[in-house]
Amino acid sequence: MEKRQELYAGKAKSVYTTDDPDLLVLNFRDDTSAFDGKKVESLARKGMVNNIFNAFIMERLQEAGIPTHFVKQLSNTESLVKKMQMIPVECVVRNIAAGGLVKRLGVEEGIALTPPTFELFLKNDEKGDPMINESLAETFGWATPEQLAKMKVLTFKVNHILKALFAEGDMLLVDYKLEFGVFKGEVVLGDEFSPDGCRLWDANTREKLDKDRFRQGLGGVIEAYEEVGRRLGITFPA
Ligand code: ATP
Ligand code: TYD
Repeated sequence: MEKRQELYAGKAKSVYTTDDPDLLVLNFRDDTSAFDGKKVESLARKGMVNNIFNAFIMERLQEAGIPTHFVKQLSNTESLVKKMQMIPVECVVRNIAAGGLVKRLGVEEGIALTPPTFELFLKNDEKGDPMINESLAETFGWATPEQLAKMKVLTFKVNHILKALFAEGDMLLVDYKLEFGVFKGEVVLGDEFSPDGCRLWDANTREKLDKDRFRQGLGGVIEAYEEVGRRLGITFPA
């Protein structure tokens, strides 16, 4: 496999074509952004930590029967994935109230959400990733009803798998965002799963171990990401 030209540079990752038209290289950079790109910083080790963390999670999900785009880790900061037609709809599940939900509805941070909630957001930075629903997605052609149904089932299945995985490391999976794409006609999990796109709290102290440390300027961002990995048995290079 040979890496060719840069196809797209996002806020945190760069995507490269390869000599195989079905495969892409994802390069996880140290760039970190929040608030729709209004707060941007480079955090040393973040690309490596997220790449290794994502590879670990994608492998666990694949083993548990979730179809993912992940093929293999290529280096500390790069992974090989299946090239997909991305569906521009982000799926968010929440087990505990935090972030946008607290702001929008004025509910107390930390209350358990039973059953967990499921929300859709349009992937559109210019418009600030607005919240949408199935009807809007269908009417505007962002996703078909069949794709949306599949995405919802898979997103909840991921919740079941990952809540248990993080619980083993004494962590609460508060909420998370997933992106899906289509590969050879099948709806497949894409992008990444890392502390950049989810909230994880220490189960006992409720200390934040995710990107909220960056959003809220709490410091120790990468230290927290590495702690999450360590608790799952991941070792990161020095
Ligand atoms: P955001 O941070 O809101 O997700 P972004 O575009 O800035 O947006 P990055 O993670 O920096 O995000 O860029 C990675 C890009 O690659 C995203 O647009 C993502 O949807 C896309 N992508 C991820 N996996 C695949 C895949 N398997 N095939 C094609 N594109 C992919
Ligand atoms: P949410 O609380 O709606 O937004 P915010 O990031 O503004 O606090 O997000 C819920 C979870 O989904 C949270 O873990 C962050 C993640 N998420 C993303 O990573 N990117 C997104 O574009 C969205 C909408 C959510």
